[in-house]
Amino acid sequence: MKSSKNKVLITDDDKAVQKTFSIGLEKAGFEVKVAGTGKEALDILRGNYFAPDCIMLDIRMPEMTGLEALPILREKFPLIPVIMLTALTDLEIAVDTMRKGAFDYLTKPVRMIELVETIKKAIRYRWTLLENERLMQENREYQRSLEKKVEERTRELFLAYEKLKTTNLETVKVLAETIEAKDPYTRGHCQRVRLISREIAVNLDIEKEKIELLEYSALLHDIGKIGIPEAILNKDGSLSEEERNIFRMHPVIGERILNNVEFFKPCLPVIRNHHEWFNGSGYPDQLEGEKIHLLARIVAVADAFDAMTSTRPYRMALSKEKAIDELARYRETQFDPQLVDIFIENEIYSILSEY
Ligand SMILES: [Fe+2]
Repeated sequence: MKSSKNKVLITDDDKAVQKTFSIGLEKAGFEVKVAGTGKEALDILRGNYFAPDCIMLDIRMPEMTGLEALPILREKFPLIPVIMLTALTDLEIAVDTMRKGAFDYLTKPVRMIELVETIKKAIRYRWTLLENERLMQENREYQRSLEKKVEERTRELFLAYEKLKTTNLETVKVLAETIEAKDPYTRGHCQRVRLISREIAVNLDIEKEKIELLEYSALLHDIGKIGIPEAILNKDGSLSEEERNIFRMHPVIGERILNNVEFFKPCLPVIRNHHEWFNGSGYPDQLEGEKIHLLARIVAVADAFDAMTSTRPYRMALSKEKAIDELARYRETQFDPQLVDIFIENEIYSILSEY
């Protein structure tokens, strides 16, 4: 059975000291082990068969002195207090050992009552060290469990956010289809504008979040057509000036519709300004150059190309080649020239063959 007695390791080369200390301490209820040198003390501790609650360490010993053993003990066994034993002549050194981590020192000859008291004090100190260590360990475990919880929660939030994004995209698609339902000539137009816009953005090395925003915006760019009379949208022939002015309200109406939904707020400049011209002669704000939101400039190119290559009430579809010529012709006047170049050089128009 394991002993419940407190254990003391006496480290002293003096046989008389070993004997008197052993007898005295055992009488006082301690379990005692003796080492003749610092090295022997270290061997006992490393051997793990005697785990002392306190170590007595003589300063002057052969082989390994107490002064040499102390820093090793402090480093390897920081929770075991060390009491230095010293001759009167070594008092200064003894005081110095306390600075180096000894718990206390006793001057030989040591009175037994003083020895026992000092050891008891050292052991009480060890208990507080152990208690501290236990609390710190508990704290570390608590910290780890918190970190794990935060990690789990972050993951859950990420998944919820991804799900929300999918749902939003579904909603946006449904909204886009409502525009197309009103204007059968534009069937699939929003989806194609989305695909072309995304391809241009990928070639521009735009970051992922902005591309997502661009895709929503491209799908919704004409949402304001909901507010335009069908007679104007589907008119077979050219529009009167008044009708044209009404038609040209669709970017502003679109902005107004989506302004009510927080999620769509970042799309608003794209919706409002997808009909601006690079030279400032577009609508509704006559913005020019880079004052037009980059994503709106991208949607403008994609929208124009798809509109030209689709049949509309007032004209037949242009061939791909003719539409590319037109984009090149309006490079710098209507469109951002860099975007037209990207569109043509990377043959982005070819992605529509599947649609
Ligand atoms: Fe439009």
